[in-house]
Amino acid sequence: MMSTLPLAQWVILLFFFHKMLILTTATELKQGFYAETCPGAESVVREVMKKAMKRDPRNAASVMRFQFHDCFVDGCDASLLLDDTPNMLGEKLSLSNINSLRSYEVIDEAKEELENLCPGVVSCADIIIMASRDAVVLTGGPNWEVKLGRKDSLMASQEDSNKIMPSPRATASALIDLFSEFDLSVKDLVALSGSHSIGNGRCFSIVYRLYNQSGTGKPDPAMEPEYREKLDKLCPIGGDEEIIGDLDATPHVFDNQYFKDLVSGRGFLNSDQTLYTNEWTREFVQNFSSNQEEFFNAFVEGMVKMGDLQSGRPGEIRQNCRVVNQRPMEILIETLDDELIEK
Ligand code: HEM
Ligand SMILES: *[C@@H]1O[C@H](CO)[C@@H](O)[C@H](O)[C@H]1NC(C)=O
Ligand SMILES: *[C@@H]1O[C@H](CO)[C@@H](O)[C@H](O)[C@H]1NC(C)=O
Repeated sequence: MMSTLPLAQWVILLFFFHKMLILTTATELKQGFYAETCPGAESVVREVMKKAMKRDPRNAASVMRFQFHDCFVDGCDASLLLDDTPNMLGEKLSLSNINSLRSYEVIDEAKEELENLCPGVVSCADIIIMASRDAVVLTGGPNWEVKLGRKDSLMASQEDSNKIMPSPRATASALIDLFSEFDLSVKDLVALSGSHSIGNGRCFSIVYRLYNQSGTGKPDPAMEPEYREKLDKLCPIGGDEEIIGDLDATPHVFDNQYFKDLVSGRGFLNSDQTLYTNEWTREFVQNFSSNQEEFFNAFVEGMVKMGDLQSGRPGEIRQNCRVVNQRPMEILIETLDDELIEK
């Protein structure tokens, strides 16, 4: 009897503590959110990105891609980073992400340093947003102030990722529809696709357009013949589909080369080249191809809008980006187990 009373009080305490910790992910985002609570946050992330790019320049592209795959699936809440558990199929193995998303360890590194500097303060969702911006800056693209203050999700959904994320075979009209569901305009779609100014894609993502576009048994006619021959050599029929090619002619530099390539029929993915084939998206491709300033401005606008997507679901500041924090009830049950074992 003596030991159950404090325990009961503890349960009540934990219950309220628990309520306090679970906050909604729909909060007001603002620039300089960590200015008082963790003033070093943005420079820590910037330094981690610099180190990661020294190890492997492609880390910039791979990390930047996280923002897209996180924000489109149930808001920018780092759901993408959760590992599968026996009760939850997460997003890492979804159709678009499996064998494709990489550089999770760069986010882990930033998180670890931030937990040392200011424990429990900076969300994984915000790290993705900061690191994506830094990837653009460090490869020669525009700089901008990011809005912060996101919470990390308590779950992830492979099903949602499969339903939402577009295929490399997507047509411009399907992409226009998809982006409009997120209040992103045709201009946003074209500008954000300009992220493919850096990074790589696998043969897996393009073999159908090299050899059997839309089931015709022929290549995509929108491809410039010399470029197609080059890709045929890189990705022969029956070859290793994990081999990677460059998404544009300057894959380590964030510039408007991607759009110049589309104009000359040298887009890597079908979803890239289709932006020049389609009449609604073409005018923006043309504009960005001859006006880098205009591209940079539109890209920043698109990244900020995409970064505003929120689910409104409960959230927390994860201690480890790969797992949700242990809930107080679980800690309680474990403590009880320990007490029982001791007796
Ligand atoms: C418009 C629709 C989009 C489609 C269909 C699409 C599809 C793809 C595909 C298929 C790949 C190559 C994956 C592989 O072969 O393993 C890729 C790579 C990439 N995507 Fe997208 N993407 C789109 C939009 C975006 C957006 C909005 C961003 C970021 C703002 C983005 C950033 C990237 C980056 C940086 C890479 C290279 C990653 C690396 O080298 O690791 N993409 N995308
Ligand atoms: C091309 O695609 C069509 C439709 O998906 C399929 O029926 C056909 O077998 C494919 N051809 C080859 C050579 O793979
Ligand atoms: C691109 O679009 C902007 C804004 O509409 C316009 O001011 C500019 O003249 C266009 N540039 C080109 C080269 O089309």
